[in-house]
Amino acid sequence: MAATQHAHWSSRWAFLLAAVGSAVGLGNIWKFPYEAGQGGGGAFVLVYLVFVFLIGTPMLVAELSLGRRGQMSPINSMAKVAREEKRSALWSLIGWSGVVGAFIVISFYSVVGGWTLAYVIKSATGEFNNITAAASADTFVAYISDPVKTIVSHVAFMAITIFIVAKGVQGGLEKAVTFLMPALFALLLILVIYSGIAGDFKATINFLFNPDFDKLFYSETVSATGETVRHFSLDTVLQALGQSFFSLSLALGSIMTYGSYLTRDVNLGKSAVLIASADSAVALMAGLAIFPIVFAYGLDVGQGGGLVFMTLPIAFGQMPFGIVVGTLFFALLAVAAITSSISLLEPPVSYIEEKTNMSRRKVALTMGILAGLVGVLSAYSQGTNMLSDVRIFGLSIMDAKDFLTNNIMMPLAGMFTALFVGWFVSRKSMMDELALEDRTFRVWYFLVRFVSPVAVGVIFVKIIFDVITG
Ligand code: PHE
Repeated sequence: MAATQHAHWSSRWAFLLAAVGSAVGLGNIWKFPYEAGQGGGGAFVLVYLVFVFLIGTPMLVAELSLGRRGQMSPINSMAKVAREEKRSALWSLIGWSGVVGAFIVISFYSVVGGWTLAYVIKSATGEFNNITAAASADTFVAYISDPVKTIVSHVAFMAITIFIVAKGVQGGLEKAVTFLMPALFALLLILVIYSGIAGDFKATINFLFNPDFDKLFYSETVSATGETVRHFSLDTVLQALGQSFFSLSLALGSIMTYGSYLTRDVNLGKSAVLIASADSAVALMAGLAIFPIVFAYGLDVGQGGGLVFMTLPIAFGQMPFGIVVGTLFFALLAVAAITSSISLLEPPVSYIEEKTNMSRRKVALTMGILAGLVGVLSAYSQGTNMLSDVRIFGLSIMDAKDFLTNNIMMPLAGMFTALFVGWFVSRKSMMDELALEDRTFRVWYFLVRFVSPVAVGVIFVKIIFDVITG
């Protein structure tokens, strides 16, 4: 193993910005609103928030502490802590799952990241001026179906990610997040205010905060005879759990890697609460920015991945200074995506850096290009693009990668991480590492020992059951 000098954040503030930058991303502004839309609104939002604070936040603490204690990539940090605790070397599989999972996720994350870049240009050139809902949908589908345009933007997005990661923790990641995160917050706020005035705010509040528990536990299918059949289903709950993990950047090695750049003087409990709060706030703000327009224009809240790309342009096309605001919105969405994608490239890069003698620049370039190539498959699986007919268990390539990571790898890795810190690392060394106040520690310990593994376990068993019974 090459002896590399492990990098550190220059301050606690730099770490927090980077971690919030990782957490706040496409998951908040693109995925959360459309999943809430498909999951029936308020009920989804409620379980989501419960998962974020009851399961996600303690998991943030767990991952940060493992990374900080290990001071290495997720794979080697897990191996080191397991060794110190006299546990099986197999626990490093959690690190492996993270590193491989991050690689899979960045391969499709950068495709959507590329869409945001393309939309900056579309917006700036006035393509959305007075656009109708139908034309906006057509523009989006035509774009994601174009084999050249999608690759150009995918490559551009990946190139930016590689450039930042290549420059290292302080010279790259920190610099990138310092100015852009506050700007993202400001712009989102402007959008919420605009939507609140111009859109249907009342319907939005009702939709987002009035939980309909029927929608949470039952789903409807139409039988062959045309009857609507209602049946018990935990799909929405599972979706919310997966989304809470994804949104907090958990179980993909990113948070563990960022934790490894920490020094011991940072309070992990407070940091985790801060990161989770900022992340949920942005997700809710994104909902408050988007749904008023969706309702005002009578659009479908459950239309899925195109919500941000098909819905918002309609508003930008009509509002005063729409070109400016629209361009800034997509630029900042791109920035939010970039501050997340760097944290996805980071785990594989930090591992390969430890394994080889290659410079950081070369490693970042190699891993970025590899992920980019795998990403082409995702890009081409969209719209009517070249691989759009390919189905893996009924899913497009992009959705299949999303399902594999979000619904299988992440819950499993999350469950084992909780079991590891809760049952296999000694209570004393956890207390020493976290240095939390006694009561806070006890709450945290209870949550990671019992609540997280049981909740994730039950839901996971349900997925396996669903897959087996078809
Ligand atoms: N949290 C990011 C988002 O919400 C995505 C992400 C997941 C980033 C996992 C890093 C690790 O978009």
